[in-house]
Amino acid sequence: MKIDIERLSHAFVSADGDEKKVIKDFSLAIPSGALVRVLGRSGTGKSTLFNIVSGMIVPNSGVVKVGDVDITTLSESARDLFRSKSVGYIFQTFNLLPSLSALENVYVPLLLAGHETENMKKKAGELLKQLGLGAHQTHFPWELSVGQRQRVAVARILLQRPALLIADEPTASLDKDSSQDVKNAIIEMHKQGSTILLASHDPIFDDMVGEFSCNMEKGGE
Ligand SMILES: Nc1ncnc2c1ncn2[C@@H]1O[C@H](COP(=O)(O)OP(=O)(O)OP(=O)(O)O)[C@@H](O)[C@H]1O
Ligand SMILES: [Mg+2]
Repeated sequence: MKIDIERLSHAFVSADGDEKKVIKDFSLAIPSGALVRVLGRSGTGKSTLFNIVSGMIVPNSGVVKVGDVDITTLSESARDLFRSKSVGYIFQTFNLLPSLSALENVYVPLLLAGHETENMKKKAGELLKQLGLGAHQTHFPWELSVGQRQRVAVARILLQRPALLIADEPTASLDKDSSQDVKNAIIEMHKQGSTILLASHDPIFDDMVGEFSCNMEKGGE
């Protein structure tokens, strides 16, 4: 899935009414299947950019074409549909549903979003085994460590195979082994052809700069 961002600008208005421009006249063309490392210090707008590209925030101005559609022109429900069909998100909080087991957390949200249903449960179990969680399939999120919860979220993404994967600090607070699992999953998704946007301060990803990167310093100017 290709992404074309043209002249994107976005500002937040603080509680005291001040306007803070976070993204200023930012343009970027990302070919389908590219892995993009988004760089920049804390507060330079990386997460804001991701929230715009995934349709969670409507920007003040600019064009954000994902595939062939400018998602800034879509209704809220159309943006929700786009997100549930095409976007996978890995971030620090994993969005696990507390009332579902690890196994159910991998495939039930995808069923609810209307994804392909054949063998989903079986494939979900296989992915959990690959990620070292074979013995934890029936456990609920509160019975899992942080790294184990992260891997359940990663299994869901691998099962979903989203056209666009957004990884926003995906290894924050993980140990080295869990971080490597997450990195491997991202590499796997890249091989399968997903377009990937990655922002991370973790040196584990340092060898993944190069192919394509953009810097959000000075709001992407
Ligand atoms: N909902 C919001 N309301 C007001 N200001 C916001 C909001 N979200 C983000 N900001 C501000 O926008 C700026 C960019 O934030 P953003 O989260 O995009 O940065 P980031 O590059 O992802 O930083 P980090 O590396 O720390 O994750 C920050 O100054 C932040 O305070
Ligand atoms: Mg961020």
